[in-house]
Amino acid sequence: MIPAEIIQQKRNGQSLSKKELRQFIQSYLDGTILDSQMSALLMAIYFQGMKDDEISSLVDTMLNSGKRMDFSSLDSYPADKHSTGGVGDKVSIILGPLLASAGLAIPMISGRSLGHTGGTLDKLETIPGFRVDVSLDEFEDLTKTVGIAMIGQTEDICPADRKMYALRDVTGTVESIPLICGSIMSKKIAEGIRGLVLDVKVGNGAFMKTLTDAKKLGEQLTRIGESFGVETDVVYTSMAQPLGNVAGLWCEIQESVDGLQGRGPADTMAVTYELGAKLLIQSGIAKTKDEAIDLQKHLITSGKAYEKFMEMVKAQGGSTHCFSNDRCHAPKYFVDVLAEKTGIIQSMDTYQIGLATVELGCGRKKTSDTVDPSSGIRFLKKIGDSVEIGEPIFRCFNSNKKKLDNGKAMLATIVNIADKQTTHKLFLK
Ligand code: URA
Repeated sequence: MIPAEIIQQKRNGQSLSKKELRQFIQSYLDGTILDSQMSALLMAIYFQGMKDDEISSLVDTMLNSGKRMDFSSLDSYPADKHSTGGVGDKVSIILGPLLASAGLAIPMISGRSLGHTGGTLDKLETIPGFRVDVSLDEFEDLTKTVGIAMIGQTEDICPADRKMYALRDVTGTVESIPLICGSIMSKKIAEGIRGLVLDVKVGNGAFMKTLTDAKKLGEQLTRIGESFGVETDVVYTSMAQPLGNVAGLWCEIQESVDGLQGRGPADTMAVTYELGAKLLIQSGIAKTKDEAIDLQKHLITSGKAYEKFMEMVKAQGGSTHCFSNDRCHAPKYFVDVLAEKTGIIQSMDTYQIGLATVELGCGRKKTSDTVDPSSGIRFLKKIGDSVEIGEPIFRCFNSNKKKLDNGKAMLATIVNIADKQTTHKLFLK
């Protein structure tokens, strides 16, 4: 195999065979193909797309780059949830323990921040000691004993996604349906799950800007899931504004804890319950959506979902002291972004908000960057809210003054304020 020829082939719009994809990805993993060559192939895929059979080969190759779990002997239903990426989206951190407390087995493999979107792993790693790089045996044991484990791609499991994901993040090759399918579905199928629910995000803060594109992605993801024997449901939710009241790292763990203790923001909890209902119905634990939602609310008010979260934290080596200590990851600095006029918030540039979180320290501009656990943004106003001129709309915080000022500057003109009444639609069909 000559790597440059494979790159040229894709660059020129030709299909790649399963053998070519396998050789290329395998050589990338063993170091004979360089980051620069993989970046070129990713960019060629970004521009030329892939046919259905190529996408299946990509998923299969990425999946088989590591080991695959097998939970077929479990009595409980092994299932998972994944989002295509958003700003302020901490639903996995709430829903995973919630579903585990309902009796499902949740072996969840997540990613780090990607492009302008936040990453579940980066958020979880702000819990002191929490390990996301457990061995395969430990992952299996935790899923069986605790009912949930939340980990990242490792050398054992989905190594291809681990390397390609980090490269896509810094090479402008994230927003590609074949690459998103390869990344998400290889991780999810490797988990050995029977059921999956996908939150396909739509809007100016999502990788898919229109419902038409989101549906193309959702349908492709469903076809792949079903072809690998995983029952797959899709929910389309809006990313026309961030989810919840904060986007960032530790602040999102705190908001997840609020959610698990019954104080979560309405939009975040609505998405959590909607996605959770799909898996509770798939598993046979609930018969109807109403029953599934009531059960989830009960698991939260009874404290069982939060207990499961704490059990998971401890089992993965995390210390719980930060949950009762306000000084943990307390940001050194904060600054408010003020409304430029009086009126009602019509829209906001959620992509730019995501980029501002990266600037503040929640994500990476190059693979070697480190993140700042204290960093984030609080959304003091959202679409449909009234504001007075000079009133704070966003509060930015972190522990690096220069990055704070840069982040603030990025948010100065991204909110559209007018006189018209307006509302934000969370669920799209
Ligand atoms: N989430 C993933 O795991 N991968 C992507 O490519 C996008 C969102």
